[in-house]
Order: sequence, then C-alpha cells, then structure tokens
Amino acid sequence: MTNKESKRYLVTAALPYANGPVHIGHLAGCYLPADIYVRYLKAVGKEVLFICGSDEHGVPITIKAKKEQITPQQVVDKYDGIMKNAFKDFGIDFTYYGRTSSQTHHDTAQAFFRNLYDKGVFKEEVTNQYYDEEAKQFLADRYITGTCPRCGNAGAYGDQCEKCGTALSPTDLINPKSALSGAVPILKETKNWFLPMGEIQQSEQFQNYIKRFDHWKSNIKGQCNSWLTEGLQSRAMTRDLDWGVPVPVEGADGKVLYVWFDAPIGYISASKEYLATEAGSAFGPWTKWWQDEETELVHFIGKDNIVFHAIIFPMMLMTHGEFILPSNVPANEFLNLEGDKISTSRNWAVWLHEYLIDFPNRQDELRYVLTSIAPETKDSEFTWKDYQIRVNSELVSIFGNFVNRVLVLCDKYYAGLVPAIEGKLSNEKLIAAHTLCLEQVSIGIAAMQENLKAIKLREAQAEFINIARAGNKFLADTEPWKLVKTDEESVKQILFDALQICAKLSVAAQPFLPHTSENLANMLNAKGLVWGQLTDAVLVQSGTQLGKADILYKQVEDEEINKQLLRLEEIKKANTQAPQAKPLSEVKAPITYEDFDKLDLRVGKVIEAEKVPKADKLLKLTVDLGFEKRTILSGIAEYYTPEELLGKLVTVVANLAPRKIRGIESQGMLLMAGNDFGKLYSVSPEKDIEPGSAVK
Ligand code: MF3
Ligand code: ZN
Repeated sequence: MTNKESKRYLVTAALPYANGPVHIGHLAGCYLPADIYVRYLKAVGKEVLFICGSDEHGVPITIKAKKEQITPQQVVDKYDGIMKNAFKDFGIDFTYYGRTSSQTHHDTAQAFFRNLYDKGVFKEEVTNQYYDEEAKQFLADRYITGTCPRCGNAGAYGDQCEKCGTALSPTDLINPKSALSGAVPILKETKNWFLPMGEIQQSEQFQNYIKRFDHWKSNIKGQCNSWLTEGLQSRAMTRDLDWGVPVPVEGADGKVLYVWFDAPIGYISASKEYLATEAGSAFGPWTKWWQDEETELVHFIGKDNIVFHAIIFPMMLMTHGEFILPSNVPANEFLNLEGDKISTSRNWAVWLHEYLIDFPNRQDELRYVLTSIAPETKDSEFTWKDYQIRVNSELVSIFGNFVNRVLVLCDKYYAGLVPAIEGKLSNEKLIAAHTLCLEQVSIGIAAMQENLKAIKLREAQAEFINIARAGNKFLADTEPWKLVKTDEESVKQILFDALQICAKLSVAAQPFLPHTSENLANMLNAKGLVWGQLTDAVLVQSGTQLGKADILYKQVEDEEINKQLLRLEEIKKANTQAPQAKPLSEVKAPITYEDFDKLDLRVGKVIEAEKVPKADKLLKLTVDLGFEKRTILSGIAEYYTPEELLGKLVTVVANLAPRKIRGIESQGMLLMAGNDFGKLYSVSPEKDIEPGSAVK
C-alpha cells in the first residue's frame, strides 16, 4: 500500500460538527491541506474521490440546540448549508459533501454496528455512568467536563481531552461536573456495548496495521505510540442519549450510536450516496473505493481527532473485515489567533463568511497565508499584521508584480502579442541571468512537486513562490525596460521567457491558489494548460494574443488591518466585561451536618512547589500537615508561581482518597475559591496558625 505508486486515492476531510460557521482554524487545520493535496493528485493524473460532510450527531449539536433554544434538527439544517457554502467559496473542492442525518448514513451506520454485533465483537456491559438528576439524563461525552487525569487540563470532556488528545471515559475525569446544570453528577447503572480495544490491540491484524505509523508524521506517530504503550481501554460505542443513530438491536431503546462510531462511517455513507447518483456513477461502484487494496485511503484531520482516525476507526474497519485501512492520517496541530486559542463560544475567530464581506474575492490571499503558516508540525499563529506582510511582500510584490510587469511590457511593446524570437541574447550578462533563472525555475518546480507529494504543503508553496521570485530577479537583472532602446531582439527573448514562467506559475498555482490560477490563465490566454507541461520549455506560443493585464492581488492597506484588529479588541473587551453572561453556579442540594463532618479539613504549609513537566496547569506541592507531609497535585499553575506558594498556609482536604494524576499520587486537595471565569485563589487562614490545625 505505501511502497508502490497508487493511482487511486480516497481522500477524506474530517466531518465538521454542524454547530457553527467555519473559521480559519478549520480551514488551516484540515480542509485547505486536504484540498491542496487533492488538487495536486488530480493534476498528476490520479483518480481521486474527495469526501466530506456535516457531522450532525453528538453532544456538540444538542448543546448548541439548547443554547439557541431550537431543536437539534434545526441546528444542523442551519449550519449544514452555511458550512457547505463557506467551503465552496474558498475553493475547497469536495467531490461530495454529505450529511450524517441522511437515510443512507443511518442505514450504513446501523448495518455496520449490526455486523460487528452479530460477530460478537462488542462486550455488552452494565456499568455505572454519570447521571444528572436535575436534567434527568445521562451525561455522555461533552455533557460532562472535568480535569484530565493525564495532563491536568481542567476543561477536558467526558470522552476526550482536547489538550493532550487522550480518549477518556467520563469516570476518568477528576472533579466531574455536568455541563448541563453544573451539578456534580451521581452514578447510575446502564447497559452499553463496548469495543474491546485492549483485545483488538493484541490482534495480529492490528499489530500489522500499526507498522504503517512508521511512515506517518511524527506528531501522529508519537501520540499513537504513547497510547499503545499505556494499553488501550474498552470504549462504549453506544450512548444513553436521544439524538443520534438509534442502536439497531433489541433492548437498546433510548440509546444511540456513539457519535465517534457513526461519524467516520459517514465517509463511507457519503461515498455510497454520491456514487449512486448520476454524476457519481462515473467513479464506479463504492466498493472499488472502500474495499480494493489498490485504493489509498487518506484522512486529513486536526490533532484532536487523531485517536479516532488512527486507532478506533481502523479497529472498526478491521473487525468488520471488508474494508481497506487508512494509508495515511495527516493531522495538523492547532492554529491560534492573535495570541489566543481560537474559540467559537468566545467568538475568538476569523469567520470565513465575515472575511469575505471585508475582503471580497480575496479568498486566495487567505488560502496563501494559511498555507504559509500551516500548523503542520506544531501549533502556529495567525495575526492580521502577518497576513498583511505576507500578502503585500510575497503575493503582491513578488508574484503579482512579476506577472504584471511582464504583461504590461508585452502590451506596450508588442500590443499584447507574444513576441517571435530567434533564441539569442546579445551579451554574457544577459545569458548568465537567463541561465540562472531557468535553473532556479526548474529547481523550484521539482522541489514544489516533491513537497506536494510528501504532503509538506507549507514548503511546497514556498517553492512555488520561489519560481516567481526567480522570474522577478530575471527582470531585475536584465532590465528589459532599459534595454528596449538599444537591443530589441534580446528584449523579445527576455519577455518571451518571462511569459513562459508566467504560464508555469498559472499551472503551478492550481493546487494552492485556484482562483488566481484561473485569472492568470485568462490573462495569458492560456487556458487548459496541464501539470505535465510544467517542465516544457514553451507553454505560450509566439503570436498568441494575450488577454487584459489585470492585477492579481490588491495591496492590503493599514486601515483594513486596523479594522480587523479593532473588531478583535472589542470581542476581547466583551469577553472580559460581560461575565454576567455566565451565571454563578446554583446552590447545590442541601446536606446534613453529618455529611459535612465527613470532611477532614486541615491547615497545611507548602514546603515545596514545582511545575509538573508537560502539564501547564499543574503544580506538584509538598504540604506539611504537622503530623505528616503530603504530595499534592493542584491545578493552579496559571494562578500561582511555585515561589509564591512556598511557606504559604493553605486548606487541605486531608481525607480525600489518593488519586493518580500523570503517574504521580496526589494525597489530598487544596481548597480554592474559584469563579467560572477562571480565577482561582487559595483559601488560607487569615492569621498564622500551626499546620495540622482543623478547619471547621
Ligand atoms: N465532528 C468531528 C470534529 O469536528 C470530526 C468528525 S470526523 C469523522 O471534531 F471521522 F467522524 F467523520
Ligand atoms: Zn489531557
């Protein structure tokens, strides 16, 4: 599957939750790289099916419905269209964009579950699950939040910590809290069907499959290997929820498939659905794409989706038995915005539909910048200033300027006709400039292609710009606008060659800047050029009438950038000034004095404090309780430096059962005064008192 060159690729981009519009983080993380790669594959003559669609199930949808006070169905109907259009506007050229609410999807997902069920793959188990007595419902997945036992992230979800990517179960969370009511949930028995991932991990088939990781990007390989080393846990593939695909077996009333079971099957159902249409029939039967080993299956995703695509979905596919497994899972890290994590709920994002209002017809500029800063190996950052610099100093000054100079000169000297040439330059200096230029162009083209093939798109695009840079330098070195007075023949040759570079750029731009590629081809009157011609010497013939020389890119002005920065500033202000948007949590149910008396609260003195490596929020403390010293992990690293805590008196829950966090046993808990906006301060005795004193 990986060694030889395949001719057929099934490329997928993560199905986005249909619960909000699309922002630059989505685009940079997954959809843009997938689109560039697909355009490249098509250009080099591969047969490609490019599949995406809306993920319309799961708690993210029902939470949004609750917030907007509409039904889940109304939520997905609203956002499915918005997302689909945003992708289209930015040239993300899916072969098909499906929806997981479709009948085909429900049928396909249920049949898949049934297949595994009939084979006896699932373990049916009655377990204790968190239940919100107030909301009267089980708290699956994002309905429950708490602290990640692995990295200490306080905002981890019941099924996953998005910070470290680990797949979790609700009962793994430290300090679990209902996202519905804020209440501490109770445990209640319920039956679910589990995928025995630990067992599957041992299977020969899985062990063979993971050999593929060796060829994958190190961020994915690293994450996967660390989970595998720890050993995988069984995971419920069903949920006690009322929104989703009903579980198609007896005794499962009121239960639906886990969204991460049904959503990736969405790739299969969308393929099926499309290939059954008239347009899709040209691609052949769906089995050719999903069951034939000649097909390379490539999943583009963001890093929070790694475990599901690299481990869980392949396990589902292999236990089913009739499917190919992914050949590659190129996952990107996250894109931040102006120093902060992109967040839909805090409106901290650049929304694609809003960008287009302020920058109409300037999609390629955004594509360009997002690819230049793509978080391919680590998190990266979008800033408007950087956007302006990259557009102005690269797209405008290098690429746009080169093309414009060539076209304007041809218009001026030859009335827009490609000049006839004799193949001669009159002196050594011109010949040297010419040789250097041709060399740089061909190096750029080769390097660009290699990087595209290796899915190193950031570098590929940099090589693309190098081609334009070589053209620009050629003009600067030869100065045809001066030479024209004395050496008309050489000028013809120079501009003829420069035009060929323009034509190459129009072809090479196809994957990255599809709108520009088309505009440029029109200006050159050279439509229909293909990728294979990139290495040809002549792409536009002498005598061709060139089109109108329009500029390719507009300069980004300071005012435009300032407007965007102002908007973000206002959002930041609104976020910090309007905390009343989030009510303080309600008072919990009453308890008796006996309940309270079970707590053993003591004064402790912090005698050692240090950061926990790779856990931003955690501090490891040694606390003297007078009668003994305890190691306590506390999620307060954002509020206190270790130094500030040394010698401080704190309040400790001294009889809390010990708990392992990040492999360290925490023997108690510090009391903190915290609000919902992220402030956290130690509850400390007002005056000096000896460690070990009771707090009552
Ligand atoms: N909806 C998920 C997210 O936005 C991605 C689903 S990808 C698929 O994180 F595999 F389930 F399709
Ligand atoms: Zn974590």
